[in-house]
Amino acid sequence: MNIAVIGSGHIGAGLAKAWVKKSHSLVFGARIVDDPELVTLCESIGARATTIAQAPRDAEVVVLAMPFGALDEVLAATGGLAGKVVIDCTNAVERGVGLKYGHTTSAAEELQKKLPKALVFKSFNAQGAENLANPVYGELPASNFFCGDDPDGRRLVKSLVTDVGFDAVDAGPLKNARLLEPLMLLWVASSQALGTRDLAFRLLRR
Ligand SMILES: NC(=O)c1ccc[n+]([C@@H]2O[C@H](COP(=O)([O-])OP(=O)(O)OC[C@H]3O[C@@H](n4cnc5c(N)ncnc54)[C@H](OP(=O)(O)O)[C@@H]3O)[C@@H](O)[C@H]2O)c1
Repeated sequence: MNIAVIGSGHIGAGLAKAWVKKSHSLVFGARIVDDPELVTLCESIGARATTIAQAPRDAEVVVLAMPFGALDEVLAATGGLAGKVVIDCTNAVERGVGLKYGHTTSAAEELQKKLPKALVFKSFNAQGAENLANPVYGELPASNFFCGDDPDGRRLVKSLVTDVGFDAVDAGPLKNARLLEPLMLLWVASSQALGTRDLAFRLLRR
């Protein structure tokens, strides 16, 4: 699958490294295409880098892995991303770790309003980036939730979450991003209380 990842930091690079191992074709959308760190990353994993405007052109999936504050600037470059699956990994944090949205809407729902012809999903926001490199605890893969409205998109996103090595948990329609976005706050609070980033959620089922 052709995947464009906007942002090549902890989350963008972590996802890209996992997906190239599953034979997906990766292109990063970057502000500075010839940034030496990005060039090295691309060479080491077999990905490409191009402008933020160009990256989504041939991609079926576009992953937003840059700061939430950069969203409008990024969307101005990418355009409406019509027909593409858009995975929103951002956390709309304000004032420390408070969320900009919650309860009556979510950052992902607001994103869908800005991109009415795209298939928006929320995922990977409530994981420490370290889990992308190693999602397995003992013998159990950590759970990674995703939500979104399009049935074909759900199957596709589930397979991409699984490809990273997670237990992919379908959390229902995009509206449930109202629940997934605050889950990041619980992850951060638990991480601070326990004094480690080496932790993840796992949903148990019978
Ligand atoms: N770190 C985590 O554990 C974690 C976990 C879950 C979700 N998240 C969320 O995932 C997103 C990325 O986090 P991260 O930790 O990967 O951040 P990061 O390591 O700081 O990387 C951010 C990336 O976004 C790019 N970027 C910054 N400003 C930009 C702009 N105006 N336009 C386009 N690209 C821009 C940066 O490129 P430059 O080199 O050009 O600056 C960099 O490649 C954030 O929304 C964060 O809340 C993070």
